[in-house]
Formats: sequence, C-alpha cells, structure tokens
Amino acid sequence: MNQVTEQPKTSRIIGIGGSLPSNIVDNHYFEKIVDTSDEWIRERSGIIQRRFVDDDKLNSDLSAESGMNAIKNAGLTPEDIDVIILATCTPDRLIPSCSVSVQDKIGAVNAAAFDLNAACSGFVYGLITANAMIVSGQSKYILLIGTELLTRVTNFKDRSTCVLFGDASGAVVLGPSFDSRGLLGQYMGSDGSLLDLITMPCGGTELPPTPQRLKENLNCIQMKGNETYKHAVTRLVDSSVRALASANMNADDIDLVFPHQANTRILQSVAKRLKISYEDKFFINLPHVGNTSAASIPVAINEALETGRLQPGMTILLVAFGGGLTFGGAVLQY
Ligand code: ACO
Repeated sequence: MNQVTEQPKTSRIIGIGGSLPSNIVDNHYFEKIVDTSDEWIRERSGIIQRRFVDDDKLNSDLSAESGMNAIKNAGLTPEDIDVIILATCTPDRLIPSCSVSVQDKIGAVNAAAFDLNAACSGFVYGLITANAMIVSGQSKYILLIGTELLTRVTNFKDRSTCVLFGDASGAVVLGPSFDSRGLLGQYMGSDGSLLDLITMPCGGTELPPTPQRLKENLNCIQMKGNETYKHAVTRLVDSSVRALASANMNADDIDLVFPHQANTRILQSVAKRLKISYEDKFFINLPHVGNTSAASIPVAINEALETGRLQPGMTILLVAFGGGLTFGGAVLQY
C-alpha cells in the first residue's frame, strides 16, 4: 500500500480509459425479434445503436481492458494501484467479487478489490467512496471501473427493456489532490421503497434459480419504464442541485454535465429544469451506446477525453439515477 505523507485536500481523476465491444447492433435488429420499430426506439429513448459483448468475453475482461487503459493514461503501472472498486450489477459471479478477477488479470498485486452495486448510480457512488478513502489517507491510487454486461441479463422477448441496454466498460484512476482540482461537491441517496421499479428478481437468496423461474425469465432485468421515468427526472435534478450546493456552486459554474445515459427525453427535461444548455453542456453518447448502467458515465467521460471535449480545468457535474432507487451527483474540477 502506498504511504500518503501529506493530507490531501481532495482526490482527482488522473487517468481515464474505456473498452467498448466491437459488435454494433442497430435498432433494426429488434424489429426482427419483438414488435417494435426503429422509429419508436429513437423517439422514445433516443437510442440508435448499442454494443453487444462477444459470447466468450466476461465482465472482468472488459474491466481489465478499460482499467489498464486508465492506468496507462495516468502514467502508472498496475503495481501502483492500492484499491480496485468495480461498480457493476452484472458481475462474472456472485461469489467472489468480479473485482478480484480484474485484480488478477491486470496484475495489480498490491491492490485490495471489491465490487459496488448501486445499479446505474454505481460509478458516482464509487467515486464518492474512493474519494473518502483517498482523503482519509487510507489509499493513494484507486482504480474505479464501471462495467456492465446487461445483454447477459436481458429478456429478449420483452420489448420494453431489450431495446434499451448495451454492454461497455469505463474506468478512471483517482489520486490525491493538494490544490483546487478534484472532487469539490457530492451527494448520494436511495429510496428502497421503490425497489420493484427496476429489478432482477431471481438469482439472489430471495428467489434462487429454479427451472421454472428461469423459464419465466425472472433472472433478467424488469423495469416499469414509465413510472421510473418520472422519478428519474426528479432525482437527477435534485441530486444535481444538492451536489452543486455542497460545492458552493450553481448551475452557471458547470462547463460540462455527464449524466447517466438512460433516455434523451429525460436528460432534456433535466437540463431545462437545471437551466443548463442541453445542446452545449450535456455530454450525450446514448444514441450510439445505449443504456450501459454503471458504465455509462465513465464511458462518456472517456469519449469526451478522446474527442477533445473534456479539457483540463473544466468544472464537471456527474449525475446518476438507477435501480434501488439509487441516485447521486458529484462536482469535480478536471
Ligand atoms: N416498441 C414499441 N412499443 C413499445 C416498446 C417498444 N420497444 N416498449 C414499450 N412499448 C409500448 C408499451 O407497451 C406501451 O403501449 P400501450 O400504450 O399500448 O400500453 C407504449 O409503448 C408506451 O409505453 P411507455 O412505457 O409508457 O413508454 P415511454 O414513453 O415511457 O418510454 C421508456 C419507455 C423508453 C422505457 C421510458 O419510460 C424510459 O426511458 N424510462 C426510464 C428508464 C430509466 O431511467 N431507467 C433507469 C436506469 S435503467 C437501469 O437501472 C438498468
């Protein structure tokens, strides 16, 4: 474990990486398997295409790729990493955590490793957790990965969900910051009274898998989309306001917003309520990657870095909402 001699003020992103499967699936694919249309999917969700992972790839494979890219981008080696946090709700196995396979695959021999499941809010939850570990002096370099293989838990007979999801991985390395760059404000929350809005009922200890339950696809994600929609708008706005307040900032201070990419209509509505320009300041990649849950924010950050949209010194807002319900926001100077 790296020794931290001086108490950091906060933590900051020092490396960014990503990994997207090469198999691109457009909306027309779903016209052949369920009663839907390219037009419906585009209009109601904003999604045009998404990526499907190859059958022989695991969550830990994608995580190792994006993690290594982030470590290289940070100018570090795997041996420098103290902790790996893998935000995911689609791990390789329930036991042990998927993060330990990543630890082994990348050779992060000095790292502790654990998974964090907060559904689509996992990356924001992970960022806030990692920050606390760094600021306390417990850890110096933390690899935070968001990865989902949602197509492995999708019911391809359910048109209300199967058109939405994609597979992806994104990662950042966080390190100590001694100046104004880094995490400046944060908020996390949950509402477990709404756990049935987005759920995968079977596979845990409440409903262990049986042939009948598998036949009923209870091991796949179910979502009450329309009801979820309303909560998504409210919680994304509220989480943004609270994270900004905790940074002593307001919406005008934000250069770029990285929201969880679930639905462009939701995000337009959030932008309007926050009085932040959707066109100029919301980074949107949902149309070509779909909803990738915990991977969506780091994948967007990686794309913003690669396309030159994310620049050093920018003040950014990350805001997420997902199954749980869970929600949260973080304000950072990059
Ligand atoms: N193609 C055609 N018609 C469809 C499809 C489809 N793929 N899916 C549903 N429909 C139908 C419905 O059956 C319904 O028909 P009916 O009126 O005859 O009953 C009609 O379209 C309208 O359905 P709604 O669910 O009301 O459609 P809505 O406009 O709400 O859009 C959507 C659905 C895209 C899912 C939207 O509600 C949404 O994005 N919700 C929020 C998702 C979200 O934020 N999730 C959080 C994170 S996800 C996670 O945690 C993994």
